[in-house]
Amino acid sequence: MRYLITSALPYINGIKHLGNLVGSMLPADVYARFLRQEGETVLYICATDEHGTPAELAAAEAGLEVADYCERQHKLQADIYSRFGLSFDHFGRTSSKYHHELTQHFYQRLDENGFIEEREISQMYSIDEQRFLPDRYVVGACPKCGYESARGDQCENCTSVLNPTDLLNPRSAISGSTNLEIRQSRHLFLKLDALSDQVRAWVEQQDEWPALTKSIAMKWLNEGLQSRGITRDLIWGVPVPRPGFEHKVFYVWFDAPIGYLSATRAWAVETAGVEDQDWKDWWYAPEAVRYTQFMAKDNLPFHTIMWPATILGARDPWKMANYIKGFNWLNYYGGKFSTSAKRGVFLDQALQILPADYWRYALMASAPESSDSAFTWEQFQTKVNKELADNLGNFVNRILKFAASRFDATVPPGGTPGEAEDRLQESCQASLNTLHMTLHNLEFRKATEALCGLWTIGNQYIDERAPWALFKQNREEAALVIRTCINLIRIYAIAASPFIPFTSQILFDALNLSELERTSCLKATVDFTVLSSGRPFKVPPPLFQKLDDAYIAELKAQFGGGE
Ligand code: 2FM
Ligand code: ZN
Repeated sequence: MRYLITSALPYINGIKHLGNLVGSMLPADVYARFLRQEGETVLYICATDEHGTPAELAAAEAGLEVADYCERQHKLQADIYSRFGLSFDHFGRTSSKYHHELTQHFYQRLDENGFIEEREISQMYSIDEQRFLPDRYVVGACPKCGYESARGDQCENCTSVLNPTDLLNPRSAISGSTNLEIRQSRHLFLKLDALSDQVRAWVEQQDEWPALTKSIAMKWLNEGLQSRGITRDLIWGVPVPRPGFEHKVFYVWFDAPIGYLSATRAWAVETAGVEDQDWKDWWYAPEAVRYTQFMAKDNLPFHTIMWPATILGARDPWKMANYIKGFNWLNYYGGKFSTSAKRGVFLDQALQILPADYWRYALMASAPESSDSAFTWEQFQTKVNKELADNLGNFVNRILKFAASRFDATVPPGGTPGEAEDRLQESCQASLNTLHMTLHNLEFRKATEALCGLWTIGNQYIDERAPWALFKQNREEAALVIRTCINLIRIYAIAASPFIPFTSQILFDALNLSELERTSCLKATVDFTVLSSGRPFKVPPPLFQKLDDAYIAELKAQFGGGE
């Protein structure tokens, strides 16, 4: 079995926040790193989702051509993700030529198979801006409740679903212009109704899917699928290869998921030793590939209904997801992260505050899996201070410092393992089995708990064995404890590496581990003899800094927490 992993493609505009990271890319990365460490063949693909009106508007605001803006933002995002340790095999772009080709190919197949229809629709046109306005860019007074800034798709005051033509005194949300008129425009629609039975049959087959994923899919199917517009009157996007559609592009949600495939092709073309056609080994009728998708819950309808319908209608044997892991929302205190209100923590800011591993660990520990969860600075402080700094960092530092000063910075000989070591071995094995099982099942919170539990076991062992006191009475026995603990640090580094890869790297280097010694399957038998006596090691600087109350108060004030 080979493993294909994708995380939802982040929109090109803006820098993403912690909630975006924990809802798709970070868990996907933890899973990819876990599988690679198990010796599996993994391909982890992501890309920027570059089309749509928000991209155009953000470019205009930045005073750049859309293409230039996207290029700049792609680089910025790629750089931040690499600093977070996200180990994509490829981080592509939906503006690539492969993406354009493949999107047009999908459209053509759907059209050949009779799943595309043309319809004329009425749309708001802004005469001053010389453009059609997408529904949500028309604002006006709500006809139901009178709210002054209702959007053309919905009134956020009374939640009524609206059409832009329902609004009273409509104006352009982009320029504020009221010089609008209704114009007719021809658009293409994907006949989702005609594909509904096939999508339902596929969804019903998925008995492994988590409840959240399945219930969202069934809700949509039971409400009845309707044809959906897949073209837009925009310039930026994938051109529609059909006479009369020269000034139109595909709707961003039609082309975005195709990005998983096109970015894989870009990976094949741009990676040494991989051939262009190799990308199809992953996507075109592969039986020995298990494909897992990661995304936040708002993306589930698109991935359980629209994208499968596109594939089924194209009648090509593209790989469909075996498992879809959906996440709830990570809130910032009680409310949402908000870019416009500058509420919450954005990824570039996060890295200015602390290194990636602090965030990776704390976020995975509170991943919004079974329900929404909240990021708070207080909880972050607890995770960092108690779990990373005390439980892991202190253990490593105390053991290695002591060993360096008393045993000359080499793994000491002496002592025969006894009952305490047997018990330690057993409980480590049990923790590692749980860690393995939970990661395998994509239960990230439980996996993080198992990892922290493993660190606790080592602390209990040294509390019991007290090597510092023992050293004075029985040097041999103290040497045994220290040797066991150094081996335990190796196991910690391996077990933690999907979560905190930078820290694991520091430990691997401190212990001078060979490539073989640093790769091990979590289910392997716990072995406290891998690092035998005489092996030199180095004492790394303290792994984690504690966050004091004053600093937390400062961060809260800076980021508007808990008001
Ligand atoms: O919600 C989002 O951020 C979208 N850009 C996700 C797209 S996922 C896939 F379909 F490309
Ligand atoms: Zn209203």
